[in-house]
Amino acid sequence: MHNAPMSHAQNAAPQLNEAASSYFVRSYAKINLTLDVLGKRADGYHELVTVMQTVDLYDTLCLTITEEDGVRVICSRPELSNEENLVVRAAQAMRRSFSLTQGLIIELYKRIPVAAGLGGGSSNAAAVLLALQQWWRLPLSLPDMLAMAASLGSDVPFFLRGGLAVCEGRGERITPLAPHWPTSMRWLLLLKPALGVSTATVFHSLPASDYTDGTCSQAVCTALAAKGELHLEHLHNSLARGVLELYPEVAEAREALLRAGAPCVRLSGSGPTLFAPFSLLDTATRVQQQLHAQGYEVYLTCTIHPNGVDVTFF
Ligand code: C5P
Repeated sequence: MHNAPMSHAQNAAPQLNEAASSYFVRSYAKINLTLDVLGKRADGYHELVTVMQTVDLYDTLCLTITEEDGVRVICSRPELSNEENLVVRAAQAMRRSFSLTQGLIIELYKRIPVAAGLGGGSSNAAAVLLALQQWWRLPLSLPDMLAMAASLGSDVPFFLRGGLAVCEGRGERITPLAPHWPTSMRWLLLLKPALGVSTATVFHSLPASDYTDGTCSQAVCTALAAKGELHLEHLHNSLARGVLELYPEVAEAREALLRAGAPCVRLSGSGPTLFAPFSLLDTATRVQQQLHAQGYEVYLTCTIHPNGVDVTFF
């Protein structure tokens, strides 16, 4: 994946959209409605089937052309203002593929919690790929774009389109699903326990006994396609048992959500963020206020289907 062929793209002569000096873009978070881990692969990754959906919690990026050499990120969370940030790697991948020398500053205003299972870093990287492709009019085909995204991280391809999708392989094989969301889940509380979790650590400590056969994700896809309600037992996450055991704070936060009246609580991705769906805004608000009073970080959100790249030129 890292060296996906891009010969036709490299031969093209990209043209900068000269009218704009800055480019703003939103980058949304996701939740995993299901996450079935099918088994371990020869390459060390795990084979997945996961149903993902973007939610209306977003970071804002501002890309600016600079005379400086290279790519630099300035993040509202200073610990992320470094070259390891996926936004820098995404921009560098684009520049390399098209032999561009144009310098770039990326300002990144974080609202999505970091290392939280909400895909924030992956979403930021996808936003940079989309923004540069559009801004610099780069003739990159969808398969090449997907390959570049996959080389940055397993979740990055999903964020090129967002919305509702089933993702397979290590997460990079995307099948978009027709937008549908059950009315019983119209409002979503996202509770981020006060710790960060490494996806690699969670996967590495996953026992084979937590592997599943993917039937939960399949059942959810079928129900969504029929525009029906979902059975709660199908909202399965193979990583949840291990995360709740490994991190007692996550188990405590789950109990707190249930005690406050959440009818259903699930882990998003490798966590530690938990999500709880509600049909009514006033119930969701009441539960959120109760958890805020207990000192928890809780976001009230809903699903969103970004219509292409959500950008503003200046
Ligand atoms: O692809 P990404 O860099 O986001 O993955 C982070 C880590 O999570 C990987 O290095 C791997 O250890 C683990 N992982 C996995 N199977 C997947 C996705 C991620 O084991 N399908």
